[in-house]
Amino acid sequence: MMSSDSILLIESHVSYAQRKAAMMQEPRLIWLTGLSGSGKSTLALRLEHYLFCRGYKVCILDGDNIRNGLCNDLGFSEEDREENLRRVGETAKLMLDAGLIVIAAFISPYEAGRNAIRNKAGLDRFIEVYVNCTIEACVNRDVKGLYARARNGIIPDFTGISAPYEPPTAPDVVVDTVEESIDESLLKIIQFLESKVELV
Ligand code: PPS
Repeated sequence: MMSSDSILLIESHVSYAQRKAAMMQEPRLIWLTGLSGSGKSTLALRLEHYLFCRGYKVCILDGDNIRNGLCNDLGFSEEDREENLRRVGETAKLMLDAGLIVIAAFISPYEAGRNAIRNKAGLDRFIEVYVNCTIEACVNRDVKGLYARARNGIIPDFTGISAPYEPPTAPDVVVDTVEESIDESLLKIIQFLESKVELV
C-alpha cells in the first residue's frame, strides 16, 4: 500500500451546494440492515421504484450484487465483512457527494460497522432502517436455501446460525416483516422520510 504522505487529494471545482442544487434533492443514505431473508432487498427495490417515480435520483447498493463485483474477493469472516462494508461506505459516500439518494441493503451485522458507515456518510445524511424478522421466520422462508446449508455446516459463519447479528440500538425506522406486509413496511419507511427527512 502506498503511504498517505505520497498522495495529494484533489478538490473539485464544483461545490456540494452546486451539486445538490443541480440534482434538486438532499442526498441521503437509507441503510437497511437485517438478517439474510429478512426482506431487505425486496424493500430496497420497492423504495427505489417509489422514489424514482417521484422524480428522485436514486440508486441501490445491494449485498449480493456488490459481492458479485466490487467485493468478489471477500468472504464472511468478521474481517471480510468489515472490509466489505468499508468499501460500501466509501462507494456510498462518493454517490452521496455526487448528489444521489442511495438505498443500501446489507446484513451489516455489527453495530460498530454500521456506526462507521454513519460517520463516513455524515450523521445528517444517514438513515438506519432495521428490517426486523425472527431467525425462525428467515429459516422457514429460506428463499435461497442457504439456511439449510448453514445448519448442515456446509456454509460456515452464517449470520444468525453460526455468526452473530447485533440488532441496531437506536434505528430511525423499525419494520417487522413477520407481522407486516411488504406494503405496510414500505409505508412506514416512506412516512418516516416524508415526515422527518427533507429530501428536497
Ligand atoms: S455483510 O454481513 O453485510 O457483509 O453481508 P452482505 O454483503 O449483505 O451479504 C449477504 C448476502 O450474502 C449471502 N451469503 C451470506 N450471508 C450471511 N452469512 C453467510 N455466511 C453468507 N454466505 C452467503 C446471502 O445471500 C446474503 O444475502 P441476503 O440478501 O442478506 O439474503
